[in-house]
This record gives sequence, structure tokens and C-alpha cells, in this order.
Amino acid sequence: MKISVKALLLIKTIIHLSAFGTIFYLYYLIDLDLLGADPVKEMIHFLGKTALNFLLLTLLVTPLAKGLKQPLLMRTRRLLGLYCFAWACLHLTVFLWLELNWQLAFFIDEVIKRPYLTLGAGAWLILLLLAITSVNVLKKKMKKAWFTLHRFVYWAVLFAVIHYYWSVKSGLIEPTIYLLICLLLLAQRKDYFKSLLFKSRSKIRK
Ligand code: HEM
Repeated sequence: MKISVKALLLIKTIIHLSAFGTIFYLYYLIDLDLLGADPVKEMIHFLGKTALNFLLLTLLVTPLAKGLKQPLLMRTRRLLGLYCFAWACLHLTVFLWLELNWQLAFFIDEVIKRPYLTLGAGAWLILLLLAITSVNVLKKKMKKAWFTLHRFVYWAVLFAVIHYYWSVKSGLIEPTIYLLICLLLLAQRKDYFKSLLFKSRSKIRK
């Protein structure tokens, strides 16, 4: 049985509620001083993890919709992706504001010097481009280029999980689980990576 438009609306409402629920939960943790000895660091971690969770959920939609033969599910991808971008922006803002006090020159220096930050910035820039071009008018105008650009989401998730893995000093179990989930989701897109390899090989031969 195919899901109806009403059911799709319900799924989208659940996505909105979980996003807003998460922000209220963070507000509650801050308000009751439950973020521990280093609340700024905890906020950065919380927001980064939420952004990554939303990104992985976005990538789960296509294999799920295909596997369950529920094409309408595909319509949740933009919403999940935009929430991921919103969380990533909050993650970056807290870092820039509360950790670096808006020292932009120092920030740029850090992004260049520290590879884990370079990857985080790379993932954020890709998410920015995808968010800007997510509107229907641009999708229609860009035609094939839109699909090519939106495949960059695979690189964004790869950069984001490596950024996470690299940022932790101890306790590698959780980032390893995230990395494995990411690789599992990317394995569903092996044709894309194969075509990239094929294109670069034929370019070298020329
Ligand atoms: C310019 C962009 C970014 C900057 C400057 C940045 C910065 C940081 C910093 C400073 C940390 C904490 C490292 C530490 O504990 O010492 C961190 C952790 C993290 N970031 Fe980012 N980040 C960026 C983009 C992203 C993006 C786009 C995502 C996901 C979509 C992300 C996900 C994470 C995750 C999951 C963690 C680890 C959280 C944990 O340890 O629980 N970051 N990031």
C-alpha cells in the first residue's frame, strides 16, 4: 500500500516537531545549567551531532523510499536537508561567537591550519550551496546541473563524519559507528562513485 499525501504531511509534521523539540531540549539544558563544566563545548557538540543526524537521515530517505516502494517519501529530503543546514549554521555560530568571540581572522587561520576544521568548513560550504539551490525556481533553471550539484551531498556527509572522527581525542566508538553508517549509506550510491572513477580514468588516458 502506497502512503497518501495526508500521511506525508504527518511525516513532515513529525520532522518539524522533532527539530523544534531538539532546540527546546537544548534550551532546557542551558536554562537549567545541565551542560556540565564546559557548556560552550557541549553546545558545539550537541549542535554538530544533531546536524550530522539530520544529514544521515536525509541520505537514508532514497534507499528507504526505493526499498519500501514509497516514492512520496522522497519529498521529505529537502526538509531534512534544510534542517541539517540550520543545525550546522547554529553549530558554526556558537563556535564563532562563544568560543572565538567573532575573531574572523583567527577563525580562517584555524580552518587552514587544522584539517578537521577544513573538512567541517568544506561540508558546511556544500550544505550552503545545496540550501541556496533547493528552491524550485532554481531547480528548474539549473536543469541537469542541479542534479550534479546535489550529488555533492555525498561529499558533505563524508567530510562531516571525518570532521567528527578527527575532532575527538578519546572515545572513538561513537564516531566509528557514524563513519560505518555513512559508508553504508554511500555504498548505496556506488554507481555515482564508479562513474566518477570512470570519468577520471578516461581523462588521464586522453
Ligand atoms: C565551518 C564549519 C564548522 C566548524 C568551524 C566546526 C567546528 C567544530 C568544532 C570546534 C568542534 C568541536 C571539536 C572539539 O571538541 O574540540 C566540532 C565538532 C563536531 N562537528 Fe563541527 N564544525 C563545522 C561544520 C560541521 C558540519 C557541517 C557538521 C555536520 C553536518 C559538523 C558536525 C560536527 C560533529 C558531529 C562534531 C562532534 C560532536 C561531538 O564530539 O559530540 N560540523 N565542530
